[in-house]
Amino acid sequence: MPIHGIAQLNYAVKDLGEANKFLDVFGLSKVDETSSSSTFEVLSGQRVYVRHLGDPALPPSSVIGDGVHEAIWAIADQPSFDRLLADLSRDHQITTDSDGTAHFVTDFGQAIGLRLQQFRPVVSSPSPFNAPGVTNRLNAPRKWSTRAIPKTISHAVWGVPDVDEVFAFYRDRLNFRLSDVQKGFGLYLRAPRSTNHHSVFLADANLEMLGFSGKLQFHHANFGLEDIDEIMVGKNYLERHGYDTKGWGFGRHRLSSEAFLYVPSPLGGQAEYGADCDQVDDRWKPRVWEANFGAALFVHDMPEFLSREPEWDVTYATPETSRFLPFDHK
Ligand SMILES: [Fe+2]
Repeated sequence: MPIHGIAQLNYAVKDLGEANKFLDVFGLSKVDETSSSSTFEVLSGQRVYVRHLGDPALPPSSVIGDGVHEAIWAIADQPSFDRLLADLSRDHQITTDSDGTAHFVTDFGQAIGLRLQQFRPVVSSPSPFNAPGVTNRLNAPRKWSTRAIPKTISHAVWGVPDVDEVFAFYRDRLNFRLSDVQKGFGLYLRAPRSTNHHSVFLADANLEMLGFSGKLQFHHANFGLEDIDEIMVGKNYLERHGYDTKGWGFGRHRLSSEAFLYVPSPLGGQAEYGADCDQVDDRWKPRVWEANFGAALFVHDMPEFLSREPEWDVTYATPETSRFLPFDHK
């Protein structure tokens, strides 16, 4: 069941015009626009699809508020697509679009789609770093760019009322792998044919500090850039176009190692620029992290919870350290 990443995020938004404007400045390319919807894509061909909140053309789901109401996942080959659909159709009502995309809603109210799709190959050429004693660039400046152009849609995050239930579905029915556990916060899961550290983060929807209210709710989506220079160029470009990039500012997670910038999004939740994420495969050993320690190696505008150095607290996941183990790689 080789799901290899997000094919498309279907957003329900409060203002279609504002959403279109933001996506353009954020760096996505417009593929299609009508009076009721728009479609954008990143370089890999992964897409963002936008409709008004409450539009009956959106799939039914229990997601409250605006943001991503359905994620469509990409599968590389027809036999795998057919096998997965045959299994899911045992206990889900499947509908299929004219383009072959299958849709269903889980018992926990999340709309999920499946689509046969290969991503376009993305070629990056980040500038090498010099360091004292290490010259990787001689007589060569760093690359200059004027704006960020997202290459990939790396992951999406929802608050879910019952993390255990949702994890069991993604593990047992979609064959996702557990990458890491953030204690008290949630689980980082990887699509089985992706090497990105996580394709989805299942956050505990009872965490009020993340803006949740106990219900299924979108939090953010991550768009992959080439390097930290591109993140900061994108930040300045957004600011020049009137967008607020305040909050944590630029930083780097310890958990996944990914450099980040979170931007409040008129599409709901936040849009995240990301770069330099850990790439892992089935030899990766999941770890269990204290939440604050895993959250950040550094943050430009340090949040209150990092005002004291967090305790070093991370260990490999074992049945003793994580109630989410053992987990099977099928
Ligand atoms: Fe993220």
